[in-house]
Amino acid sequence: MIELKNVTCRFGTSVAVDRISLTIETGEVCVLVGSSGCGKSTTLRMVNRLLPLSAGEILVDGENITTMNPEQLRLNMGYVIQGTGLFPHWTVARNVAMVPELLKWPRQRIDERVQELLTLLGLDPAIHAEKYPQQLSGGQAQRVGVARALAADPNILLMDEPFGALDAITRENLQLEMLRIQRQVRKTTVFVTHDIDEALKLATRIAVMDQGRIIQHDTPENILRRPASDFVESLVGKQDRGLKLMSLRRVGDLMQRYPQAAIPEPGEEGVQEDDSLRLALSVMLWQDSGELPVFNGDGAKTGVVTRERIFQAGA
Ligand SMILES: Nc1ncnc2c1ncn2[C@@H]1O[C@H](COP(=O)(O)OP(=O)(O)OP(=O)(O)O)[C@@H](O)[C@H]1O
Ligand SMILES: [Mg+2]
Repeated sequence: MIELKNVTCRFGTSVAVDRISLTIETGEVCVLVGSSGCGKSTTLRMVNRLLPLSAGEILVDGENITTMNPEQLRLNMGYVIQGTGLFPHWTVARNVAMVPELLKWPRQRIDERVQELLTLLGLDPAIHAEKYPQQLSGGQAQRVGVARALAADPNILLMDEPFGALDAITRENLQLEMLRIQRQVRKTTVFVTHDIDEALKLATRIAVMDQGRIIQHDTPENILRRPASDFVESLVGKQDRGLKLMSLRRVGDLMQRYPQAAIPEPGEEGVQEDDSLRLALSVMLWQDSGELPVFNGDGAKTGVVTRERIFQAGA
């Protein structure tokens, strides 16, 4: 668990972070969202002690971070820097291996881990492992940054706009990948973005920041349903909220299930239990149909979802 209590950060006379208090439970994904310059990166950098606090305190698992050794603290916190922060004179493999090397893992274990992570992030190790950062595209470099943060399996992940420079499709893939990893390993994560859709998709709770303060700290659903101010309301997009709420809800939670899973007809199209209601509705509109078959992860047909039911459930 990470606790920020009345934390302030000043640069000279200007206040970048202004008395914020925030509790991030173990296993949670807390997303800091807000406009440029509102203090998101500064907040992250105080958590791993790259910046000193001007006032207040930060506790990790109940322990005040100022009493901890900063190097030890950081070894347990994977950090993805805004704009990658890879070492230019190190190969991709060496960049990813940085923390395991510091932790003196055996060579073979490090090599296996590097291969595993590059593959996980969609970078073929045979092609990319021996490249230098300047030989990568912006999106590839960002993925190496994420691989590096995950390398030593830290308990805490701090991610500062990790998918910022990616095209929409790669970004979506990495978001899905992150949700999948998160379901498996549940790392306590503080994730910074200025993209509210990314925040809604990834967060267990969102902290909306403005001018160094936290305006609202709540679940994605509550941020959409009960924005605490006009600022939050304009951030989530007032008229867009209905669809955004639908994108938070899974088909699997609303579908009518068959007593027994069936084998799909050849070529039968439908949606997955894990897809959002928004996606299901979109497919129905496109196919001009009132209902769709639903498949589980193994491809078995487990039930149907109907347009009527989606509208009944409403926003
Ligand atoms: N090292 C520094 N020295 C002086 N001022 C700084 C320093 N770092 C940040 N600031 C200021 O603190 C404020 C918050 O900056 P921060 O980097 O936390 O914003 P951010 O929310 O991450 O913005 P962005 O979305 O653009 O990355 C800004 O006004 C910035 O100019
Ligand atoms: Mg920033």
